[in-house]
Amino acid sequence: MLLELEKLNFHNGTFSIRDVTFSVPSGTILGIGGQNGSGKSTLLKLMYGFYRPHGGIVKLDGIPLTGLSPKEISRKIAVVNQEISDPFNFTVLDVVKLSGYSRLNDDITPENALETCGIPHLSGRIFSELSGGEKRLVTIAAAIYQDADMILMDEPTAFLDVDKEQTVREIIHNLRERGRTIVLVLHDINMLNSLCSHVVLLRNGGVVASGAKEDVLTLENLEKAYSVKFRVLEDAGPYKFAPAEKYFR
Ligand SMILES: Nc1ncnc2c1ncn2[C@@H]1O[C@H](COP(=O)(O)OP(=O)(O)O)[C@@H](O)[C@H]1O
Ligand SMILES: [Mg+2]
Repeated sequence: MLLELEKLNFHNGTFSIRDVTFSVPSGTILGIGGQNGSGKSTLLKLMYGFYRPHGGIVKLDGIPLTGLSPKEISRKIAVVNQEISDPFNFTVLDVVKLSGYSRLNDDITPENALETCGIPHLSGRIFSELSGGEKRLVTIAAAIYQDADMILMDEPTAFLDVDKEQTVREIIHNLRERGRTIVLVLHDINMLNSLCSHVVLLRNGGVVASGAKEDVLTLENLEKAYSVKFRVLEDAGPYKFAPAEKYFR
């Protein structure tokens, strides 16, 4: 399973994605970072064919996305979007079941997927009445139930408190152990550093650097991407990068 982006160009009136080229190797956790408004969510929408590029091409295992039907794409790619819409008055269990339309195997049940996300107790609740964090976990459960090879998640830990953020970290690692490829949009540098094996840094719709995390997350690249000077914290676990002193007032 290989997703390749070649010289991707896209514009939406005010903003452009410019000549973006990188690939997502099978079995990696690839993070897309950059400032708010740098084009992370737009790029993610290009990666599963929600937006059509104005130039360049996205290929899935060598086949252009434009040559695949929505059902074929949904067997290969599941998506957890940043914005969450409320589908009528469906229950949580129904919302998870809906995403099983294209699945081929019966090894996971919707109940299993809810359990994996630590929310079996929400099964009978009306989805639209949940908190933002609870909805996020349900959409992750739905993506797991879809059972695609690749999962794209846009800011999956936004609005989650500490223990639920930990649940999502564990889910991501377990998915990778089960051979899934994962793409995460994360504006937080320390989340990129602690979760991902590969990183793409964006600035104004263009790529600042991409490749193995160790090569991309350098102080120089971070300053280019975020226009902020950073320093490295020693022995701070996952919190490796902090803004340099002068940014604290
Ligand atoms: N549907 C849209 N129509 C017009 N402009 C958009 C649309 N979606 C996003 N944008 C603009 O494109 C830029 C990049 O947005 P986005 O990809 O959401 O950034 P990020 O996810 O990195 O914060 C922003 O300036 C945003 O206002
Ligand atoms: Mg975004």
